[in-house]
Amino acid sequence: MAEPSVVVTGGAGFIGSHTVEQLLKQGCRVAVVDDFSTGKRANLVAVRDNERLTIIEADVSDGLWSCLSGYVQKHGPVQRIIHLAAQTSVVRSVESPLHDLRANYTATMNAADYARRTGAKRVVFASSAAIYGDVETVPVRESQVALPLSPYGLHKLASEQALHYHAAVHGVPASVFRFFNVYGPRQDPNSPYTGVISIFINRALQNLPLTIFGDGTQTRDFVFVGDIARTLAEACLSDRAGFSLANLGTGNATSVTELAKEIVRLCGSTSTISHGPARAGEIKHSLAAITQARELLDYAPEVALADGLGQTVAWYRSALE
Ligand SMILES: NC(=O)c1ccc[n+]([C@@H]2O[C@H](COP(=O)([O-])OP(=O)(O)OC[C@H]3O[C@@H](n4cnc5c(N)ncnc54)[C@H](O)[C@@H]3O)[C@@H](O)[C@H]2O)c1
Repeated sequence: MAEPSVVVTGGAGFIGSHTVEQLLKQGCRVAVVDDFSTGKRANLVAVRDNERLTIIEADVSDGLWSCLSGYVQKHGPVQRIIHLAAQTSVVRSVESPLHDLRANYTATMNAADYARRTGAKRVVFASSAAIYGDVETVPVRESQVALPLSPYGLHKLASEQALHYHAAVHGVPASVFRFFNVYGPRQDPNSPYTGVISIFINRALQNLPLTIFGDGTQTRDFVFVGDIARTLAEACLSDRAGFSLANLGTGNATSVTELAKEIVRLCGSTSTISHGPARAGEIKHSLAAITQARELLDYAPEVALADGLGQTVAWYRSALE
């Protein structure tokens, strides 16, 4: 039987490249569609010679038809889509909400529409904890009323609903995952919008001071990219009907102060830790309830924070050399 054929939009990005590796390991044929706005060919260097991988440079906001036509002629229809391509910065979404609308909502509609018209077997979508806004109690469950506080969150939520509509009305199975704070190798340390872990590691390895905004007691749920990639690949290959929705985190809260100290230790750094003013609008606590993912997929994060941070530090160390 022919191997499953999967399109990964945003496959040259941080989470995308790990997902592509996972799918290839499982014997899939994979087409990456990426506009390389933040993604890099270097992220796919370990798999670029795999004959089951095709890399297509295109903007998903323009639709998938024309960019995939040559691929489909050569390899047959796309069966499954993992849609990760996105404008990922909350700050930029506030500055340019209409650009965010196109890069996030329109792009998801394009992926869903392509799946509907081609009879694809599934769309998997990367949503975000940002859809919840500022919640009063943690851990947050999927049943929590979603009141996003940014265009990024709004367009992720609208994208979820677009996929729900395609599943309910047009029978396109969809799996939506709300990622919490994902970290790991290949998270871009030079992006001004990157996560706190990559900023802290990058600075700690250069013995530069780490600045915590606020008192450092704010907590986050940090989940290792390998756990996310494995879960996306598994969900994508499942034949479950209908629409499903689940948080993806670890269910463990880590304060930003604990995180900074652990990173300084792992890096063997002389960095000092200081505090700056709290950032306006920053939420105090973010923590996933992961029961739903456990029930749907038997999900259990495998990589503990200290191990994941160790792997991440090793990668940044080699990237900085
Ligand atoms: N990293 C996290 O902690 C986190 C948390 C919640 C949700 N997410 C979601 O996970 C997904 C992947 O994020 P990431 O952290 O790997 O970011 P990333 O920036 O590394 O990856 C995004 C990829 O999409 C590509 N891309 C962007 N717009 C595109 C377009 N219009 N057409 C084609 N390609 C396009 C980029 O070039 C990049 O390769 C995104 O949807 C993001 O919103 C990430």
